[in-house]
Amino acid sequence: MASGSFDFAPLLRPGLPPPAAKWTGFAKYNFTGGHNDADIVPVDRLVAAATAVLAREGRTLATYGLNSGPLGYRPLREFLAAKLKRHADISCTADEILLTSGSLQALDLVNGVLLARGDTVLIEQDSYQGSLNRLIRLGVNMVGIPLDKEGMRIDAVAAALDDLKRRGIQAKYIYTIPTVQNPTGTIMGEQRRLELLRLSQQHGVPIFEDECYSDLIWDGRRPPALYAMSKHGGVIHIGSFSKSVAPALRVGYIVAGWDILSRMLAIKTDAGSGALEQMVLAEFCAPHFEEHVPKLKRGLREKLETLMEALAEQFGTAAEFDDPKGGIFLWVKLPDAVDTQKLAQAALASGIAINPGPEWSTDKAHGTSRLRLCFAYPSKETIREGVAALAEVCRREFGVPSRIANVEQRARAG
Ligand SMILES: Cc1ncc(COP(=O)(O)O)c(C=O)c1O
Repeated sequence: MASGSFDFAPLLRPGLPPPAAKWTGFAKYNFTGGHNDADIVPVDRLVAAATAVLAREGRTLATYGLNSGPLGYRPLREFLAAKLKRHADISCTADEILLTSGSLQALDLVNGVLLARGDTVLIEQDSYQGSLNRLIRLGVNMVGIPLDKEGMRIDAVAAALDDLKRRGIQAKYIYTIPTVQNPTGTIMGEQRRLELLRLSQQHGVPIFEDECYSDLIWDGRRPPALYAMSKHGGVIHIGSFSKSVAPALRVGYIVAGWDILSRMLAIKTDAGSGALEQMVLAEFCAPHFEEHVPKLKRGLREKLETLMEALAEQFGTAAEFDDPKGGIFLWVKLPDAVDTQKLAQAALASGIAINPGPEWSTDKAHGTSRLRLCFAYPSKETIREGVAALAEVCRREFGVPSRIANVEQRARAG
C-alpha cells in the first residue's frame, strides 16, 4: 500500500534540495548525460567474466566486503594500481585505493572530509555540473578559474590564491579535471601541471584531481597525473570505470595517502560498494581492458566527427567549438543572442535534450550562449537528425543560424 495520504512534508528536515523529477524516459535526441555507446559495451565478455568469477569466488559474497576488506575487491584495486602506473605514472599500492560507488561517491567523500559551509575552493570556470551542484549544496564559495586551450589558467590560479591570502582566506582545494576537461575537452600540459603543483605547495592548498575521461584520449598521449608529479603529496586523485567500460556499473575510485584515505573510509558508511560489479570488472579488465578501450575510442571519435560535421552543416559559423582531445562531449559557443537555458527548454519540447552552459559554469553570463553536447549515446543518424532539429528550434527561437547563412554556407561548401 503506497497510496495513503500521510503527509511527510512537515517532517522533512530543513535545507533539502527540491524533489527529484520522475523519470519519463530519454528524449528522442539525447545529447545529455555521461552515457556510453551501447553498441560497444563488451556484453559477451562481461557475461563470461561474471560467470567465471562467480563460479570461482561466489561464496565470498557471504561476507561484507568479500575477503578484501573495506577498501573494495582487492584484484580490482591491484588492476588499478598497475593501470595507473602504466597510463598516468602513478605509483601507488592497492592499499592506497578506495573503490567507490561511481566517482560521484568519491566526490562526496573528498568533500565530506574537507568542506564545511562557507569554505572556499578554486575550480575551473566551466566544470562538471555534478561537482558544481555539490559545492552549491554544501554552501561552499567557488572561485571560478578561466580556461584556455590547455585548461585552467595558471596566472588566474596565482591571482586567485594571492587574493584569498590577502583576505585571510585559506582555500580548501583546487579542483581540476586536467586530462580531458569536462566540458571543454582540453588537456593540461606537463609544464602547467608543474606550475599548478608549485602554487599548491606554496599556498598549502591541495589539488583535487578528477580523471574521469583520461582513458578516452584519441591519440592516447597524456602527461603524468598531477598525483604522480606531486612531490609534496598534496593531491587526491579520483577516477571511474563509467566512461571506459559502463556507467551503470557504478564503480569509481579514490587514490590518496592513507592519512587522508582513512578519514574518507571512516565516513563511507555503506558497508562497501556493490561487490558483484567490482568482481566482474576485475575479471574483465585484467585480460581485456587494453584491447577494449581503443575500440571504444574509435567508435567515439567517429561519432564526434559526425557531430562536428552536422554542426558545421546546420549552424555554419554560428557554432564555434574546438576539436576536443578525447571524451564524450563537445562544448559549443553559439552567438551571444542565444540563451541556451531557453534553448534547452524549447528543444526539450521538440524531443532534443542538451546541457545549457550556465549549468556547467561558475559564471552564468559566460555560460549563457554555450552548451554541452554529449555524443557517445546517440547513433550517428540520431546525431545528424538531432542537430538538424536543434538548428530548427534555435532558428525559430533566436533567429540563428539564419536560413540565408545556412544556404550560403551550403553553396560555399558545394
Ligand atoms: C568530471 C566528472 N567527474 C565525476 C563524474 C561521475 O561519474 P561516475 O560517478 O559515473 O564515475 C563525472 C560523470 O560524468 C564527470 O564528468
